Amino acid sequence: MSLSIENAATIVPLSGDGPIRGEAMRSIEVLEGASVTIDGGVVASVGNGAGGGEGRAGGGEVAIDATGCTVVPGFVDPHTHLPFFGWRADEDAARLSGLRYETLHKESGGIFRSQRMFADAGDDEVLSFAMSLASQMLRKGTTTFETKSGYGLTIEAELRQLRLARRLAGAVPQTVVTTCLAAHACPPGKGEGEWIGEIAEQLLPQVAAEGLAHAADIYVESIAFQLEHAARLKTTTDELGMRMRMHADQLEDSQSGSFAARWGLQSADHLNHTSLAAVGDIAASDTAAVLLPGATFTLRQNKKPPARNLIEEGAIVALGTDLNPGTSPIHSMPFAIALACRIYGLRPLEALVAATVNAAYTIGLDDQVGRIMPGRRADLVVLDVPDFESLCYRPDHDAVLAVVCGGDLVHVAPGAEGRVTGDLRREANG
Ligand code: NIG
Ligand code: FE
Repeated sequence: MSLSIENAATIVPLSGDGPIRGEAMRSIEVLEGASVTIDGGVVASVGNGAGGGEGRAGGGEVAIDATGCTVVPGFVDPHTHLPFFGWRADEDAARLSGLRYETLHKESGGIFRSQRMFADAGDDEVLSFAMSLASQMLRKGTTTFETKSGYGLTIEAELRQLRLARRLAGAVPQTVVTTCLAAHACPPGKGEGEWIGEIAEQLLPQVAAEGLAHAADIYVESIAFQLEHAARLKTTTDELGMRMRMHADQLEDSQSGSFAARWGLQSADHLNHTSLAAVGDIAASDTAAVLLPGATFTLRQNKKPPARNLIEEGAIVALGTDLNPGTSPIHSMPFAIALACRIYGLRPLEALVAATVNAAYTIGLDDQVGRIMPGRRADLVVLDVPDFESLCYRPDHDAVLAVVCGGDLVHVAPGAEGRVTGDLRREANG
């Protein structure tokens, strides 16, 4: 089956190879009046007049008229906490009245509350809750996302969450990777060292054997784990051939961003309190700096990551939602992009690179997703704005007009059906 997206005002294909750093994040090629053709699930051509008239790449069996629109690669969300079960709006209301996240956590709310909600829900309940969120993410243009554990907090419950994450992966159109975040909080009644020992000796070998996760993650924070625990897990992930990530410097400066880079971890995420000295370590490394402005926004944190320094010094900067029921109940990459521009100072095209190519690199998929290139999996988003800057400029405009995932037209916004010709409309059920 073939599909063509025709006569777009702007296409940002992000063609090339590997992550994009520094000034190159904003000086990227933007095509005007161009089209994309897709055949057999992969991109066949991108450009002006690659097979038809001006600005047309040649009509497919199904064509989308993208006049006045912007076409970008499908968004890659490199950091979510799916699959979880249930929300914690009352905690948010308490925080809005002045209660601190750390206090909720110490009083068995926060992560521990989500642990109980997850334990009390059946597998099918968890899956349908997560699938509903995944389908909302798809309608916002997310065609690839990361999932994690971390609300199990026993060996068996962590395995259950990881297995549910893999079932979710098999049930949604998106590409999904999974990370083991058993080191999210210390189970009540256990010492930190004891739980880290169990993760290293019992859980991760089984996770690796079953192929349940490509990486492990750890929350380094005074209310969670210390760098010595991260070092212990790093030894194990190295032995098992897994990658490792770190929730770093979110609520205080623990130098975890710097250590993540020096240890060659896959990513250091959050980085609100990362020092300027540590920026040099991250920029000199191949560790992705994952910015999660949804958490900063939700927690109303004054302290922002040194985002401009990270970009100017050449770090691999990526962007995600951190979708979770506590600190970031946000599933929309367009919203994360707008926040990154508005509160972290990213330029729009930098945010686009961070949300596609560099996010794909963060989860080890940069050779598969994040770009619109001939031969690549056809994941792309048609935005009802004439240029990408307008997505950041109008943060609450419902800009996603159509989403193509793996070559299938998986979403057409209500009211935009008239732009689609051909008989694929039955598949575009949103
Ligand atoms: O990434 N930082 C710790 N973990 C999550 C919050 C999880 C929760 O509160 O349930 C985060 O922000
Ligand atoms: Fe997180």
